[in-house]
Amino acid sequence: MHAKVSCTFALLLLLGLQRTDASHWSYPDRDLDEVFPSWGGICDTGTLQSPIDLSITKSLKGVFDELKLDNFEDKQSGVTVVNNGHSIQLANFNNEMEVEGGPLRDEYVVEQVHLHWWSEHTINNVRYPLEAHIVSRNKRYANVTMASNFKDGLTVIAVLYHVSNERNEAIDQIVDYLDDVKDFDKINEPVRMKNPFVVRQLFPKLNGYMTYSGSLTTPSCAEAVTWIVLSETFPVTLEQVDNFKQIQNEEKITLKNNYRDLQKANNRPVIVVLPLDKSVSDAASPLQLSMGTLFFMLIAAKLL
Ligand SMILES: *[C@@H]1O[C@H](CO)[C@@H](O)[C@H](O)[C@H]1NC(C)=O
Ligand SMILES: [Zn+2]
Repeated sequence: MHAKVSCTFALLLLLGLQRTDASHWSYPDRDLDEVFPSWGGICDTGTLQSPIDLSITKSLKGVFDELKLDNFEDKQSGVTVVNNGHSIQLANFNNEMEVEGGPLRDEYVVEQVHLHWWSEHTINNVRYPLEAHIVSRNKRYANVTMASNFKDGLTVIAVLYHVSNERNEAIDQIVDYLDDVKDFDKINEPVRMKNPFVVRQLFPKLNGYMTYSGSLTTPSCAEAVTWIVLSETFPVTLEQVDNFKQIQNEEKITLKNNYRDLQKANNRPVIVVLPLDKSVSDAASPLQLSMGTLFFMLIAAKLL
């Protein structure tokens, strides 16, 4: 009996410790060369972890149905901005946005958008100053927690931003709210955007992408994510990115960066989907030209 009680107690203690660990994970201060902390669980033991380095030359060519982003152009009103202690996250999209096609077999609904400074994925070992994650849940599953138990549970569209002198207007719309949410005593207190926000304005033309099976890049690190990393990057100024480096975490320490170390690829296939064959649009132009010429000739004929 006594043994049973202490055993239960030990189990509860263990569960308690695990829970504390899960909510108190953090990023290292890279200015101080701190080592990346162990986040525990599958974060340490998984084999399909993210992020990874992406390289077009090491990828496999893929051809899929068109990747469709439904309602991404909609003006979303009342979108919330929150500092969750690890990132800046947008949520509460009143018009449902969906992702389907491409490598996906089901329909996914957008749950939230958040940012990492600097980028988590690298392309040919090059890191970018900012990465946006558009997180969507497979409609088969009731919520993100449920979905994260399944390999096809989530899809994340990743948009990488490159340094530019040109300010990014969509990012500026988020920067406008950072002062309201940045302090540690504002963590998990969402603020509503006053103006409508268009998610589509966060990224450029869909000009091909790389896709692979991976994980969430934050605890629980669930291996439930079909990653879709857009090939084309979008401009951002370093001044804009610096605004995010003022965010405080729950220890009142500024979150100078919130990217996870690269994980082992473990020979995972990365599939590159190239933009639609250029020769298709080139082939169309001679026809357009001849139509134009024909039209001109018809006008000329009438004039004569
Ligand atoms: C997610 O859905 C499951 C199944 O419907 C439910 O038991 C659970 O409470 C939900 N979790 C959250 C966080 O809403
Ligand atoms: Zn993320």
